[in-house]
Amino acid sequence: MRAAMDSPLTAHAERTARRRTFAIISHPDAGKTTLTEKLLLFGGAIQLAGTVKGRKASRHATSDWMALEQQRGISITTSVMQFPYNDCIVNLLDTPGHEDFSEDTYRTLTAVDSALMVIDAAKGVEPRTIKLMEVCRLRDTPIVTFVNKLDRDGRPPLELLDEVEKVLGIRCTPVTWPVGMGRDFKGVYHLLEDRFYLYSGDKLRVSEIETVDGLDAPGIAERLGAPYQQLRDEIELLQMAGTEFNLDEYRAALLTPVFFGSAINNFGVRELLNGFTTWAPPPQSRHARCPQGERDVQPVEEKFTGFVFKIQANMDPRHRDRVAFLRVCSGVYRKGMNLHSVRLGGPVRVSQALVFMAADREAVEEAYPGDIIGLHNHGTIAIGDSFSEGEVLNFTGIPNFAPELFRRVVLKDPLKAKQLNKGLDQLSEEGATQVYRPLINNDIVLGAVGVLQFDVVQYRLKDEYNVEAVFEPVQVHTARWVEADDAKQLKEFRDKNDARLALDHYGQLVYLASSSVNLSMTQERFPAVRFLQTREHG
Ligand code: G4P
Repeated sequence: MRAAMDSPLTAHAERTARRRTFAIISHPDAGKTTLTEKLLLFGGAIQLAGTVKGRKASRHATSDWMALEQQRGISITTSVMQFPYNDCIVNLLDTPGHEDFSEDTYRTLTAVDSALMVIDAAKGVEPRTIKLMEVCRLRDTPIVTFVNKLDRDGRPPLELLDEVEKVLGIRCTPVTWPVGMGRDFKGVYHLLEDRFYLYSGDKLRVSEIETVDGLDAPGIAERLGAPYQQLRDEIELLQMAGTEFNLDEYRAALLTPVFFGSAINNFGVRELLNGFTTWAPPPQSRHARCPQGERDVQPVEEKFTGFVFKIQANMDPRHRDRVAFLRVCSGVYRKGMNLHSVRLGGPVRVSQALVFMAADREAVEEAYPGDIIGLHNHGTIAIGDSFSEGEVLNFTGIPNFAPELFRRVVLKDPLKAKQLNKGLDQLSEEGATQVYRPLINNDIVLGAVGVLQFDVVQYRLKDEYNVEAVFEPVQVHTARWVEADDAKQLKEFRDKNDARLALDHYGQLVYLASSSVNLSMTQERFPAVRFLQTREHG
């Protein structure tokens, strides 16, 4: 990508270089939703604070499906928002906060080039942050950190950074530094700009933050009082520790620039967005398997490619539609073009691709690498599908996780078996649940990573497919995809274990272990068979 930026810029390369595609990661309640809204506000995508929540509320009111989300008080769905900022086109991918939908979050993280981590200043590093950071590390995703809620009493900033470094294993480079905290919160000092951004305590409009240039500006010490002296002491410590910002190390995910602020008060968000759009990487290459072996698909390649990381149903409740979210990896998507589905080996008819702006959506004329487009479809697109202009290639790294919770599906009305199967197949293609059909009987076993997924499936079966089903406990402890190089050994394994084997939605063989002991004993007995915890889509 660098080389492309240095070479004479074609329109394609220039537009690609302006894209910033990222997701926000945080533990629930740290302020992800609030920060998302403020980023949209500063990005000019919405006019008034409260719009995002307001939109959410009206969507809830019109959608039965969303009613479930509202009942639970959680955000289940992932959405995509695009807005221009400075010279950039920012693509912000929202992720569900609840851990029962973590699979969705992990897949979304495969479609971004960087992430923004939000930390609550009072709570520091929390469990879900650790988990999400582990996922980011798999692909060395660069991270910018925002320490939120400085308007409340929190932990000392040096202690927080120390915790991030120790627990998350990434070096911190403060870009802004708080002056006071809680009732004494005076604002932040921007270490790179040598400028104070002063906090007034009001929920300011976006343009009204007062700034003062220079750490030694006349009168600043008197004005800020005791927190000023503390700031001087802390800056001295930071300088001794040697924590300068280094772009290459940030892009290599070795260090994280840290900003402090109070999202709810619009404070510190503009500086965050400025730093983020300046430093965050443009669209990166993506790894793909192809008949010749493997290759990295570069964003500046002329031909269009992309992959689907998410399918969302009922975004528009009036149409009961299914939208597949596709990340453009190379080339340009142009309205009306034929998309070649690598899995199906032919073109897929897509009536109209959509781009999402804040809470609105509109037909897309053109989309560049890093952009996310929404494709309406009626079951022809599955998670993990790769698209191209005809080239056979499969993007790798979009995970399917072995579920940890299992239920047997029991139909209330046996005549509805056909609708049930259709519903479950579609829901499993969306990644809402995993479906297993045992080899030796007609049961249907569902697998999920989080228990709320079952509630969603049950609700949607009734709401969308008119099928009433109950879910019963089943003696399954864990599932493993099985494979072996030697067909004879695989057959022997299959014959001896058919009572515990099933096929998943894609026809892959799965071992449903009754307990961890059962799994390890079976593994010991059949050393030639591989028991896989994750399987790649596609
Ligand atoms: P999440 O998406 O990460 O789960 O967090 P969300 O933005 O919903 O924020 C969680 C709570 O923290 C909300 O309060 C929100 O108002 C509050 N919050 C967010 N940013 C700040 C901040 O900078 N300072 C302070 N003091 N609070 C902040 P809530 O009471 O749970 O919800 P609400 O009734 O305010 O919506």
